[in-house]
Amino acid sequence: MRYDSRTIALHWVTAGLVIALWIIGQTADLIPRGPLRDAYWSLHFTLGFLFVAVLLVRIVWRSSGGSHLPPAERGILQIAATSTHYLLYALMIAVAALGLANAFAHGVSLFGIVHFPRLADHAQAESIGDLHELAANAVLALAALHAIAGLAHHYLRHDTVLQRMLPNHALRGSK
Ligand code: HEM
Ligand code: HEM
Repeated sequence: MRYDSRTIALHWVTAGLVIALWIIGQTADLIPRGPLRDAYWSLHFTLGFLFVAVLLVRIVWRSSGGSHLPPAERGILQIAATSTHYLLYALMIAVAALGLANAFAHGVSLFGIVHFPRLADHAQAESIGDLHELAANAVLALAALHAIAGLAHHYLRHDTVLQRMLPNHALRGSK
């Protein structure tokens, strides 16, 4: 039993975007001020908007179509897994909403082509930025635990939980 291919694609595109956005956000200020740093931030904002769109599609697909597999665990582990998944969705929504708010608070520009209006003063922009970073770090920390659980299923318990979320070609490669 596996998830449908759209659920699997949406899972891995969201995971890739979350990790890429976090890495860019944490490393951008290491680049000296100038056009390169601006372009790197613009990449963060562009991927950020893409992330918002993919997350919306994922949530609509999850609630309207998409395969719903029976829980892989029982008892306390099932509660832990389900709560982790809901918390991941909640934190992704929080980081996306705070990211959008941050973009308007800072009045960012996308590669110098599109300019957002600056809707907050410096102190407000700082606070929104801090909350955005906090939510971003929380998503990463929880996703790391979630990934460890997925790998433990595969390598320690030798069950098929990880395979339910792997694309076809990855499955063929693991056989
Ligand atoms: C999973 C999604 C995201 C992650 C993991 C993430 C992560 C980060 C991180 C770590 C920072 C640096 C915080 C700091 O040092 O102050 C940052 C800054 C920022 N992010 Fe995101 N972000 C995400 C989505 C978004 C989205 C959707 C937008 C809006 C389109 C966005 C807009 C911004 C802005 C405006 C900044 C501040 C830039 C600056 O200081 O000049 N982010 N993000
Ligand atoms: C930022 C990274 C990630 C995020 C935000 C994330 C998020 C999620 C969410 C929200 C679900 C629940 C799907 C649903 O029922 O609607 C899920 C399921 C799943 N994820 Fe991730 N994930 C990430 C990375 C990973 C990684 C790296 C792995 C593998 C090592 C993984 C393996 C799985 C598996 C196997 C399931 C299905 C669990 C089951 O059937 O009970 N995920 N993920």
